[in-house]
Amino acid sequence: MVIVANRLPVHCADPGSGPVRWHPSPGGLASALRSVVQDPRMVWVGWTGRAGPVRSPLPVDGVTLAAVPLDSVDVQDYYNGFSNGTLWPLYHDIAARPDYDDRWWSRYAAVNERFASATSECAAPHATVWIHDYHLQLVPALLRARRPDLTIGFFSHIPFPPRDLFAQLPWREEILQGILGADLVGFQRHCDVEKFIRSCWDFSCRTISVLPTVSGQTRTLRFIDADAGSGESVSTEVRVGAFPISIDFALFGRRSQQRETRTRAQRTRDLLGSPTTVLLGVDRLDYTKGILHRLKAFEELLACGDLDPDRTVLVQVAVPSRDRIPDYRTHAEQVAAMVGRINGTHATAGHPVVHYTQRQHSPAELTALYLAADVLLVTSLRDGMNLVAKEYVASRHDEQGALVLSEFAGAADELTAAYLVNPHDLQDLRRTIHQAATSSVAERRRRMRILRQQVRSHTAHDWATEFLDTLRSVRGSTCSSSGRGQPPSNAVPSSGSLPTGSCPAASVTI
Ligand code: F6P
Repeated sequence: MVIVANRLPVHCADPGSGPVRWHPSPGGLASALRSVVQDPRMVWVGWTGRAGPVRSPLPVDGVTLAAVPLDSVDVQDYYNGFSNGTLWPLYHDIAARPDYDDRWWSRYAAVNERFASATSECAAPHATVWIHDYHLQLVPALLRARRPDLTIGFFSHIPFPPRDLFAQLPWREEILQGILGADLVGFQRHCDVEKFIRSCWDFSCRTISVLPTVSGQTRTLRFIDADAGSGESVSTEVRVGAFPISIDFALFGRRSQQRETRTRAQRTRDLLGSPTTVLLGVDRLDYTKGILHRLKAFEELLACGDLDPDRTVLVQVAVPSRDRIPDYRTHAEQVAAMVGRINGTHATAGHPVVHYTQRQHSPAELTALYLAADVLLVTSLRDGMNLVAKEYVASRHDEQGALVLSEFAGAADELTAAYLVNPHDLQDLRRTIHQAATSSVAERRRRMRILRQQVRSHTAHDWATEFLDTLRSVRGSTCSSSGRGQPPSNAVPSSGSLPTGSCPAASVTI
């Protein structure tokens, strides 16, 4: 099997020509996949995080890593530009203004070509390829054209935009064509599936029908196209479904029960001045996370006396992210200014009310913070899933702690026992934070039990297994009726047994 993602599971972001040092990559994708991808026959294709030629890192957990080099123009136009200056804001309900730039688009297409060819080179005949995220939406079709023998899955970690926003994208048709090269397309939420299908109806230039649901989980799109050679009609089917991503529940449980973690959590509370209430936010420093909204609500709760600045602290961990992009810089400045303003008004000597850190924390540090916090604030304006919410729940083996969770995060579909909130509604945000902060031990326990059961019953492993099982069954049924194609003669021979469910080669037109 081949995993394809913009980032490898480790990255070396250090600038300059110093020695290459590898760190775990940030974000939900890498952490969810790291916990499930541990097979020595696997290859992970991705970028190292540094511009210029960098040798592929050594295998991680036995998985071979294949680095796709990006130069500084690629990083600027493909990563900062089209991926994070066009698609990211557009797919997050225009939380910032997307820029539409031809140069960015050309570079995005060129880098997607490079990923497709790197993948084609390392995939064994009839291998399963799992492509991830918005950076690589053209890869499924590009890879299909090169390697019709492969079974191809695509998973989108971020939301899919509503039809009327997607309509703005000058390259909307090309993006849909790219994604539809996959056998199975997965999204975090059912609403994303619906939005994607709606855009396929309206913007795909192909004749499409949506077949009645086969299983509860996926919908089948059937496309009728004219074959370029014979002119005859040929049909292709693509499955689309919701596969909510998750975390390694047992790992967080184990870590949070270790004595050092519990001691560290207690020490954290002591260092914070032993407040009655600790509120916590843990986010990449991204304008979609609603950090400013949360700070505003907190400021107002202090100002009106609903929260006592002598007994309450807010710890905000913000991991720097995409800091070459102007909107991210502006946002980081606004957050820092707001933290300064709140502390300027409400802190006393040696006792800030907001403790703000801008660095990545180790898993042990984070788990201790989760245990130390009475309330976790997840107030995203729009979020694919938000795994921090699930990590908090998995860490609370004591069944304490309250989760305030944005309705606009994918996690809200599952974690309905959280204190759900509309972060755009400041009054609702204030009310909900106050309610969570003042809730009784019994009420927190009642909710946390339900939340823990939910996260325990659907882990990262379940997510990956469900996606891959569905992918193999989809491909199996496609192959049994029509087949897909032969690998090219130069395809790398398979080193081990074929993945379960992959089917023998047969000729096919799609
Ligand atoms: O949430 C979307 C996402 O691309 C994740 O898949 C990824 O883990 C995270 O953002 C980190 O982003 P970046 O790779 O830009 O630091």
